[in-house]
Amino acid sequence: MRIPFIAGNWKMNLTLSEAESFVKVVRNHLPVSETLETAIAASPLFLPSMVKLSKGSPLKIAAQNCFYKDAGAYTGEVSPLSLKDVGVSYVILGHSERRRYFHESNKMINLKALSVLKNGMSPIIGCDEKMSKIKSNNHMKWLDNPVSEALRNVKAEDMSRVMIAYEPSWAIGTGRAATKEEAEDGCYLIRTTISELYSPKVADQVRILYGGSVSHKNVADLMACPNIDGVLAGKASLNPDNFLKLLNYK
Ligand code: G3P
Repeated sequence: MRIPFIAGNWKMNLTLSEAESFVKVVRNHLPVSETLETAIAASPLFLPSMVKLSKGSPLKIAAQNCFYKDAGAYTGEVSPLSLKDVGVSYVILGHSERRRYFHESNKMINLKALSVLKNGMSPIIGCDEKMSKIKSNNHMKWLDNPVSEALRNVKAEDMSRVMIAYEPSWAIGTGRAATKEEAEDGCYLIRTTISELYSPKVADQVRILYGGSVSHKNVADLMACPNIDGVLAGKASLNPDNFLKLLNYK
């Protein structure tokens, strides 16, 4: 049984005081955690304070990236060990903005995923369809398979902690979300890929999310799709009222 998951990805937005007031408002209005898991991915500057403020509530805190080494001479990078130490639960990896602006490769994302798992957190691995999928004869297939590349050497027993986010780049920040059919197709392709790489049983445990112009208007339709276990929202997560509308989608 996969617990639905709704997360906000704030990207490089908000200030520390805005982040803190957001958590103070949202933490008292969250649905219970057995029926829905929820998280906010924020700037590393905000994480310690957000973890403290959300303690005791079902709201979990996520990072938007990290490096794959725990420590060392890597100026400007964020250590997964320090994220774990601070109390971060999830780390987004390989978001299409990281791939596009910071040239992150599948190889790099794979190393990061292994490191996040080793540190006891859950990676949320982004797959950007632009680089990856075509539809031919009504069959979806990968041009360049970001799922198998990101999961290299990830053990089957760790897969229940992995989430994959299907985020078509044309839908990100454009206001033009994928239709529920398009989103379901992409998430189905990801699940069948995991099933081929591991087994149907493993694929059945992995939560697959959709991201790209999610709003309170389309969230219920997306969440009703059989292979969509949750959503990753950018813009619609920046304001507490809008974020709570997403969580109360039913
Ligand atoms: O990670 C979520 C994201 O890329 C989608 O952003 O603003 O289109 O919801 P947005």
